Amino acid sequence: MMTKKGLRLVDHDEEGVNNAFRADVLEGLSQEQKAIPARWLYDDAGSQLFEDITQLPEYYPTRAETEILTDRAGEFADLIGRGRAVVEFGSGSSVKTPLLLKAIKPAAYVPLDISGDFLRAAAADLATKFPGLPVYPVEADFMRTVELPKEIADLPKLGFFPGSTIGNMVARTAVDLLRNMRETLGTGAQLLIGMDLIKDEEVLVAAYDDAAGVTAEFNYNLVRRINRELDGDIPLDALNHEARWVDDFARIEMHLVASRDIGFTVCGEDFSMRAGDTIHTENSHKFDRRTANTLLLAGGWEPQTRWLDGKARFSLILAEARPPRSAP
Ligand code: TRP
Repeated sequence: MMTKKGLRLVDHDEEGVNNAFRADVLEGLSQEQKAIPARWLYDDAGSQLFEDITQLPEYYPTRAETEILTDRAGEFADLIGRGRAVVEFGSGSSVKTPLLLKAIKPAAYVPLDISGDFLRAAAADLATKFPGLPVYPVEADFMRTVELPKEIADLPKLGFFPGSTIGNMVARTAVDLLRNMRETLGTGAQLLIGMDLIKDEEVLVAAYDDAAGVTAEFNYNLVRRINRELDGDIPLDALNHEARWVDDFARIEMHLVASRDIGFTVCGEDFSMRAGDTIHTENSHKFDRRTANTLLLAGGWEPQTRWLDGKARFSLILAEARPPRSAP
C-alpha cells in the first residue's frame, strides 16, 4: 500500500522481514505437497527475469497476443467503439496497452496495480505516449472489488486483462476475480481477456522450460529470495526446475524437484524433502473455446467475439456484462 510518494506500507517485523512472505513460505513448506504462492516469484529480480521470458523464442504467448492486438485493431474499434474508460488489471505493459488504446480511442485509461512503483511507471509511460488521454492510476489489489475514480463514473467501461494471467489462477480463484471485475466495472461493461490455448505438450513444456534456462532461473530466484530474506539454507544445487503438463487440469505446473534427500531451515524451522519430492511454484492453465467460455460465464461474462493469432496458439476474447436475465 502506498501513502505518500515512495513510502511503502508492507507489513514488516522488527528485523525487516515481510510477514506475509514468511507466513506463506512457512505454511507452504509444511504441507505434504509443498507449494508457495506464485506472487512471491515477482521481486525485482523475478520481474526482470519474467520480462526476459517474454522475449524467449519458446515463449510464444506474448508475441501471439501482440500479433492479435496489432492485426485486429479495426475489429476492436468496431466492437468496442470509442469513448470507453479502459481499466487494465495489472500494470500496463509498455507494448500491449498502447496497441489497444490506439485501436479504440478511449476516453480515459485506468491502470490498476498492487505495486505503486510499477503503476507510476506505467502511468507515466502511457501519459507520454497519449498526450490528452486522462490517466487515473489506482493502487489496489485487483483480487478484491476496487473503487474506481469518480472521474470515470459515467463512462462505459472496458476491462483489459491480457497475458493469460487468468490462467495462473485455479478455477475458483479465477471465477472470484471475474465476478469482482464485473462488480467493479458494472453492467454494460466489456472485458477483453487473453487466454492461452491447449496445444501440443512439447510446445507448452518448452515455453516454460526454455533451452537458455531463463524460466529455470525465474523459478530458482524464489529459493534465493527465501534464503536471503527468510534466513534460509535451502540447497539450491539439489533442486531442479521442472515444467510438467497435467492433462486432467489442462495446466502447466512449475515445480522445484529435489535431486536427493535434503534437510534445510527457514526462519528457524526445519523442513525436509526426499529425492523426487517437489515444491509447486506456479500453475498456467490452458483453455479451449468451450472451457474458456464456461469460465467466463461462471464469472458473469458473456463471450462475444474471439480472436486467434495466425498459428492459433493464443486467444483474445471480448465478453460483455449483460444484465442478468432468466434462463431455462
Ligand atoms: N500468465 C503467463 C503465463 O502463464 C505469465 C507467467 C506467469 C509465466 N508465471 C510464469 C511465464 C512463469 C513463464 C513462467 O504464461
